[in-house]
Amino acid sequence: MIIKKRNPLKGYITVPGDKSISHRGVMIGALANGKTEVNHFLLGEDCLATISCFRRLGINIDIDFQNEKVVIEGKGLDGLKAQNDILNVGNSGTTIRLMSGILCGQNFSSLITGDSSIQSRPMKRILTPLKQMGADIESLNHNGCAPLSINSSKCPSLKGIHYNSPVASAQVKSCLLLAGLYAEGDTLVTEPAISRNHTELMLTNFGAEVKSIDNTVSVKPRPSLTGRKIDIPGDISSAAYFIAAALIVPNSELLIKNVGINPTRAGILKVCQMMGADIKLENIKENGNELSADLLVRHSNLKGVNIGGSIIPTLIDEIPIIAVLSCFAKGRTVIRDAQELKVKESNRIDVIVDNLSRMGADIEATDDGMIINGGKPLHGATIDSKMDHRIAMAFAIAGLMADGDTNILDSECVAISYPGFFKDLINLQN
Ligand code: S3P
Repeated sequence: MIIKKRNPLKGYITVPGDKSISHRGVMIGALANGKTEVNHFLLGEDCLATISCFRRLGINIDIDFQNEKVVIEGKGLDGLKAQNDILNVGNSGTTIRLMSGILCGQNFSSLITGDSSIQSRPMKRILTPLKQMGADIESLNHNGCAPLSINSSKCPSLKGIHYNSPVASAQVKSCLLLAGLYAEGDTLVTEPAISRNHTELMLTNFGAEVKSIDNTVSVKPRPSLTGRKIDIPGDISSAAYFIAAALIVPNSELLIKNVGINPTRAGILKVCQMMGADIKLENIKENGNELSADLLVRHSNLKGVNIGGSIIPTLIDEIPIIAVLSCFAKGRTVIRDAQELKVKESNRIDVIVDNLSRMGADIEATDDGMIINGGKPLHGATIDSKMDHRIAMAFAIAGLMADGDTNILDSECVAISYPGFFKDLINLQN
């Protein structure tokens, strides 16, 4: 995909539904009794992989592609069926980590894996606590990565534990909470900083007993979950590209409708505010315990910021686009405490720094983040996305303000989380 310097962004847009909430809608819907109807479901590759895995486990799921609506016929906590094939999650870390928790609670065995990126991402972070709960789960190649084999048939039921997670990760926390639905006794997870809480909010909405006090979440086992109707807000991680585009392209004024602003996800808005961005929140609503708002974004003169500590988990997926924004901000931006970026769909510290350097930015990698001296004009370059959807989209936005052509390699990877991204981007500038 070639990106050229473009016109201001004008008008309005609705971005696709939140990826994290869409995954959880299928998973929790499958474990609930009765129908769950999910509106504004994200029909990207990751969430379709979750649907495909649950269909293999005997759950009927109807997809209405036209209306972005998914209906799940939940069969209760013990309604999943054994299947012989290996479950394939594609590129989706959320699917493999959350599903592993659920599979450890079944009375049948499973094998689960994904693409080459998934097979190199760390799974020890879930294997260690799941084993502490009594699960028989192994990395098949003994390298701490997928494929994972779960031998639940000979395993006694799980027991609840209090796990002190060394990483702030919603995937680890959610994996354990979902396994905790099948455990004897309560399951508690304490994290070093609070990660996204969609699992807690949705489990509560479906009837589970979940408590959150400071950095600790607990769940009571064997709740009776009841199917629900869910309206998913737009994904703030997808909205972030258009927020950034409107902020950096002069004369832009853009309304992004119905964006999820759950405080455990909205760190990007705080950072934009610290940078001096003109963003107004309108029409704030709540649905299924999740907050959303319309965001009115106007071109702004930005300044560099320091980002680190407990805000990091609330904007972890937005760091590629924050790095791009920082190139257009006056002064220095320092991002620290973000070493988790190294184990995302690509090593995002290296990939951001390499590609922005190629475009002429003044940027250097650190052990746990990066330092960017803003204000140097960017020029077009060939961008290796490493098949990482968030890298492809962040650099498409950088290309809007670069002199010359920006060529994004493997740009089709945007289909992981935002299949219509390039179409939407072009439409806003005509
Ligand atoms: C996600 C959690 C985050 C995030 C990922 C989606 C989720 O990962 O990066 O894109 O849906 O729970 P970690 O929990 O590993 O930080």
